[in-house]
Amino acid sequence: MPRVTFLPDGRTAEVPRGSSILEAAEAAGVDLPHNCGGVCACTTCHVLVEQGFASLSEIEDHEDDKLNEAEGLTARSRLGCQACVEGTDVVVRIPGNRIAS
Ligand code: FES
Repeated sequence: MPRVTFLPDGRTAEVPRGSSILEAAEAAGVDLPHNCGGVCACTTCHVLVEQGFASLSEIEDHEDDKLNEAEGLTARSRLGCQACVEGTDVVVRIPGNRIAS
């Protein structure tokens, strides 16, 4: 199973292929905010992909539209509830200092 690592604290989880970054965060005990409940209606689950961008599912139009509203948008940005791990290991950074636990 692919491993997802969350920076800056380095917590990790192995998750089945097809799991979202948000699901991986929950498995790793990382409190990735998800104010809309994971339905692509906010930007609180925004993450920056540091490794493994090509391992993630393709960005669909609704994610792309919502992502454009994310603070600190970069070319490595994804929404954690929409990006699914389909290949090898992934390393993501939670922007700012939003980890609560
Ligand atoms: S949790 Fe709202 S868009 Fe991901």
